[in-house]
Amino acid sequence: MTGLSGSGKTTIAKELEKRLRERGLKVEILDGDIVRTNLSKGLGFSKEDRDTNISRIGFVANLLSRNGVVAITAAISPYRSVRDAVREQTERFVEVFVDAPLEVCESRDVKGMYAKARAGEIKGFTGIDDPYEEPLAPEVVCKTAAETVSESASKILAALERGGYIPSSAEQAAAV
Ligand code: ADX
Repeated sequence: MTGLSGSGKTTIAKELEKRLRERGLKVEILDGDIVRTNLSKGLGFSKEDRDTNISRIGFVANLLSRNGVVAITAAISPYRSVRDAVREQTERFVEVFVDAPLEVCESRDVKGMYAKARAGEIKGFTGIDDPYEEPLAPEVVCKTAAETVSESASKILAALERGGYIPSSAEQAAAV
């Protein structure tokens, strides 16, 4: 998943995780905020550091997914080139654009960081004074200002089924 801070990536990731687990699948979430406290500890928010962060997340996600674990990544991932590089390196990849207008993310301001960025206390904040490059051809777009978390998760599940990455609900029912 890619999208601005406050767009809803983590919330959707958790709902998706729940729904996939209910289907008996193994799931891991690689969330930017958490990854930055361990795997990417010490990295900042320059383009280079963000790209390194996303490459690492992509690398681990690929290891997980090729071993049958659904890897959900939830980081801003603002740069198209590194997202595309991860796509190339990953056997099974679905790009989800968590698309909420900046004004909406800013009004949610879950962590109070937009206010700090506007006040100049945080420099280089994505969407304020740092770029966010929207995906050009994402498999799924979740418009979180207009749809519920459950609807967003359902769209992603449907894309995973369409791609043959997880069994469809019908196949699953038949297997029981
Ligand atoms: S990414 O750009 O490398 O994908 P990531 O998702 O890991 O970013 O981390 C983003 C989180 O870090 C934000 O949700 C916010 O809490 C925090 N953060 C701190 N500084 C910045 C910044 N300059 N730009 C964006 N997010 C920041």
